[in-house]
Amino acid sequence: MTLANQKDKLWDGRFTEATDAFVESFTASVNFDHILADYDIEGSMAHARMLSKADIISAPDLATMLAGLSEIRQEISQGQFQWSVQLEDVHMNIEAALTARIGELGKVLHTGRSRNDQIATDLRLYLREQIDLIIGKIKQLLTGILDLAETHTQTIMPGFTHLQIAQPIVFGHHLMAWYAMLARDAERLIECRKRVNCMPLGSAALAGTSFPIDRAYTAELLGFQSIADNSLDAVSDRDFVIEFSACASMLMMHLSRWSEEMILWTSPQFDFIELPDRFCTGSSIMPQKKNPDVPELVRGKSARVFGSLLSLLTLMKGQPLAYNKDNQEDKEPLFDTVQTVMACLTAFADMVPNIIPKKENMLRAASTGYATATDLADYLVRKGLAFRDAHAIVGRLVATGINEHKDLAELSLEQLQAESDLIQEDVYQFLDIHGSVASRSHPGGTAPDTVRHAINRARGLLTKNG
Ligand code: ARG
Repeated sequence: MTLANQKDKLWDGRFTEATDAFVESFTASVNFDHILADYDIEGSMAHARMLSKADIISAPDLATMLAGLSEIRQEISQGQFQWSVQLEDVHMNIEAALTARIGELGKVLHTGRSRNDQIATDLRLYLREQIDLIIGKIKQLLTGILDLAETHTQTIMPGFTHLQIAQPIVFGHHLMAWYAMLARDAERLIECRKRVNCMPLGSAALAGTSFPIDRAYTAELLGFQSIADNSLDAVSDRDFVIEFSACASMLMMHLSRWSEEMILWTSPQFDFIELPDRFCTGSSIMPQKKNPDVPELVRGKSARVFGSLLSLLTLMKGQPLAYNKDNQEDKEPLFDTVQTVMACLTAFADMVPNIIPKKENMLRAASTGYATATDLADYLVRKGLAFRDAHAIVGRLVATGINEHKDLAELSLEQLQAESDLIQEDVYQFLDIHGSVASRSHPGGTAPDTVRHAINRARGLLTKNG
């Protein structure tokens, strides 16, 4: 990094002394915003084409600008471009390189434009593409969930409330709960993308421009769905970044919950699933350890994504209209969020289809936790008892079971009848966990056929929506 010692800025006409060297590096953003280079050049090319169409620049000048910009793009992609902190940000680095390459004409490109509408445009182009990549990854994960769920529509496990065994369910149904949450996350991102896909360019610094620009044409070239209605709003608000960050936080909250579950389930106390070795690590001191590092890290990484959401909200809340330099601080939280979400989804998309359920342990847990107590209460209700009374009777039978170390299905008919003579021989079919899950066959229930149907429906929708 070279220090400033002379007036050499693109904007220093009115200045009488060079920028303080510390201030120069303090205010620069090129160290992080250089990743927007491709979008910046794409935006500049579209802007130049529009300037030519509107007869603000000539066709030969346009051709020279486009050729210069594509050479710069190539240089950047090959890692040969020299970024300079003295040139502050991605925009001025590229503009200076263009001028160095094509001469005075390079300085004409910025006609009718400001860095304020330029950065807002770059950010929207970047985010639109990242949202598409993230949605693609979520869909890959969703497909993996469906594949795993499909093979476990008969795999019985206990369902939990308060982390206590509650009622028997099938593992496929449990997986489809995660599916539903992540499908909503994808939907939220699709909605968010609509609001990202609106073009600020043409707003210039804040008030628009006196040049006869054709915003609709630039928007068409850049694939924007609409153009921003208000120039002040367009250059200043970052609600689209905050909205994305909120969607990303929700997604990470889901991945973190799921991670927590995997961590519990791989512990010897639960022992419900095994994760493939390649997703785990060992301990340098305890030879027996196989640690679920990937889910632990995903759970941990949710923290930085939530933190970024709060940073972005706080960044915005005190800003008067229109653009303020504060907004430069939106980049790092956004880039970090995109990178974190993508990495966590990549890990999950690979790991989830390779989860190895331990069916016998799941079944054993479901058979020993009085998971069919509600079924017994429902049975008594069907025999004419009020639910609250049935609940009390079953509670006493559970106490008997606990005393005798027996599950409800292991109690004799006499033992059951000791609490209610409404109980008959037919009770055992309701105490059977397979019968219990099969009886919940309404839409949204855990019966194997219902779950299979839900999986097929989800797969149909997922493939239909691409
Ligand atoms: N680096 C700036 C940002 O990220 C670009 C816009 C700067 N505009 C300005 N008037 N200083 O927001």
